[in-house]
Amino acid sequence: MNKTLVIANWKMNPANMREALVLAQRVEQGVKSIGGVTVVLCPPFPYLAAISNKQSAIKLGAQDCFWEQKGAFTGEVSPAMLKDVGCSYVILGHSERRRYARESLPMIAKKIKAALVTSLTPVVCVGENVEKDLKSIVHKIENWKLGIGNLVLVYEPEWAISTRKNAKAATPEHCKKAVVRMQGLIKNETIPILYGGSVDAANVEAFMVQGGVQGVLVGGASLDAEKFVALVKNAKKA
Ligand code: PGA
Repeated sequence: MNKTLVIANWKMNPANMREALVLAQRVEQGVKSIGGVTVVLCPPFPYLAAISNKQSAIKLGAQDCFWEQKGAFTGEVSPAMLKDVGCSYVILGHSERRRYARESLPMIAKKIKAALVTSLTPVVCVGENVEKDLKSIVHKIENWKLGIGNLVLVYEPEWAISTRKNAKAATPEHCKKAVVRMQGLIKNETIPILYGGSVDAANVEAFMVQGGVQGVLVGGASLDAEKFVALVKNAKKA
């Protein structure tokens, strides 16, 4: 059976390197004895190399990457660079990137391809319109003949993200319906499907049991080591 996956999306936090190192260290201390759960931290780019540690119990991921491996692309970071500093995952297509950086589905698809070619696991965020997102993403991947085995999908409705106005986590039943729709479209049982949006230690178990997901993508609740470790423990119980 595949392992439970808990992915921390730190977004543009914390404010400095010192706080980032303390947070990573506390999480590592707290989760190292919890078996059966893969914990991935996705800090901002400038903290990646400092947090990277091959001996660590936690895995490292980035929050985005570009679709080219090097060259004249000011401000961009390539999948190869991420791999080189110790990342094994990369979040792609997050609704905040679609909203603030105007990322389109064709751009996201190119990024997924570049990540797969580099052997980084793309953690692809799928919004409320799962049909539209998956058609542009998974069907393209099939055409590339790269194999979609090394892919993680996240059902993450924008309205459920904790920092949005009037945000509210999806219900586990709503999540389950989306997961079933996604499974019907991807037709590949080996691809883990996670849920994201206002996940915390109190609701994680319900998402995993009734919501039918194999793990979660966590924003706000991943910025407090104690709360995040409690969340990982509850995800393990599920
Ligand atoms: P949240 O963020 O857990 O704070 O809702 C999740 C995300 O945006 O990935």
